[in-house]
Amino acid sequence: MDSHVEGSLNRISIQGGVQRHHLRRLCASLHQTIVDRGCSDVVLDFSLCDGVTEAVMLPLMPIITDYRRRGISFDLIPPADAQLTRLFLNANWGHYIKPERYDPSSHEGGHVPALRFGGTEDQSDILDKVMRLILRQLETDRSTLKAIEWSLGEIMDNVSNHAQSSVGGFVQATAYKNRNQVEFVVSDAGIGIPASMQIDNHATALREAIHEGVTRDKTQNAGNGLYGSYRVAFLSGGQFEIHSLHGLLYVNNPEEGIRNSQETVPYNGTSVRCAITIGDHELLNKALRFKDVPHDPPVDYIERTFERGEDDVTLNMREQAWRDFGSRQGGVKIRSMIRNLLNLNHPVILDFSGVGVISSSFADEVFGRLFVEMGPRAFMTRIEMRNVDPTVEGLIDRAIVQRTRLGNGDA
Ligand SMILES: Nc1ncnc2c1ncn2[C@@H]1O[C@H](COP(=O)(O)OP(=O)(O)O)[C@@H](O)[C@H]1O
Ligand SMILES: [Mg+2]
Repeated sequence: MDSHVEGSLNRISIQGGVQRHHLRRLCASLHQTIVDRGCSDVVLDFSLCDGVTEAVMLPLMPIITDYRRRGISFDLIPPADAQLTRLFLNANWGHYIKPERYDPSSHEGGHVPALRFGGTEDQSDILDKVMRLILRQLETDRSTLKAIEWSLGEIMDNVSNHAQSSVGGFVQATAYKNRNQVEFVVSDAGIGIPASMQIDNHATALREAIHEGVTRDKTQNAGNGLYGSYRVAFLSGGQFEIHSLHGLLYVNNPEEGIRNSQETVPYNGTSVRCAITIGDHELLNKALRFKDVPHDPPVDYIERTFERGEDDVTLNMREQAWRDFGSRQGGVKIRSMIRNLLNLNHPVILDFSGVGVISSSFADEVFGRLFVEMGPRAFMTRIEMRNVDPTVEGLIDRAIVQRTRLGNGDA
């Protein structure tokens, strides 16, 4: 289908596959409907939409929430496609468009759903959720994880420090397994980067903002947040994109370089999208260099969450896996997490305190498969299990025995 955005009376129809350049078109339609035509009940009709991503949807969340704050109400007609409708609900888009009808999502799949911070949700909780998503879904090393944590932290901080957004900030993250990439988008309905930096040409302002040491206030800030996160995304071979007022800046792929333009329709706030490819162990060292000195963030998620002693890493199974114990898919995610922790080169302690039972499919997916994958000696020397209930121990033993017979080849 020919993809487009169409507005008439109080209805905005989004048809076909929604692409990134539709964001401004959607902002324009909202403005025409609400401000020019004076409608206070807006219908967002996605029934004929057959593809959409967070790159377009997340930036709309603060804009829509800001209109709602000003008394506009929204109705959502979800896509006819059932899978796409599920995405609207799981990603919380439905919830932020029409909270009266859609409850917040507790879905834990390949993403951290859209979350609003600066109010109810805490920024550091969101950071933890994104780090956890990566450990569960992708294959990472610690320094890359640090680079991602630093970037997301800086971009969220910018909302609190500079945006003056009446609705706070919104963030969403997605793990792409096929390309071992994590993408996050942070959006606000604030004053915009050009206004904050007091630069008249909006395209120029965004270009300026991603330079080292560029800040609105040198006595307060270092000016490295956007520079550093841009470098992390760019040097990883990923993507980077900023929408702020009339300014647009993006890098689709490193060969193409930075694209930068002045758009007719403004985005009334700031939205930053970062897609970071995981794989280069030197990424942190290459990307985060300020005044030519490498910057290594002193405390990271791994330390806060797993490091109790000097040399070991403890995974609290009840805290980290309680929602996974019942299923094979849950097992896949916990195995990924354990593998990532084993990559740190410490012994990994699995603490089963408070765990009374696990499903045999979970036990097979985690312990059976890890045992076969690593071999008995490595499994037993590198993984230590503590406080294991006898029932759970029985289930783990049986899973290992059975999986050893089958091998890891089958499904
Ligand atoms: N979300 C935002 N809203 C408004 N202005 C922003 C936002 N993010 C960044 N800026 C502007 O861009 C400048 C550069 O940001 P950054 O590189 O993170 O440096 P710093 O935060 O240390 O000033 C900020 O000083 C501010 O003027
Ligand atoms: Mg900053």
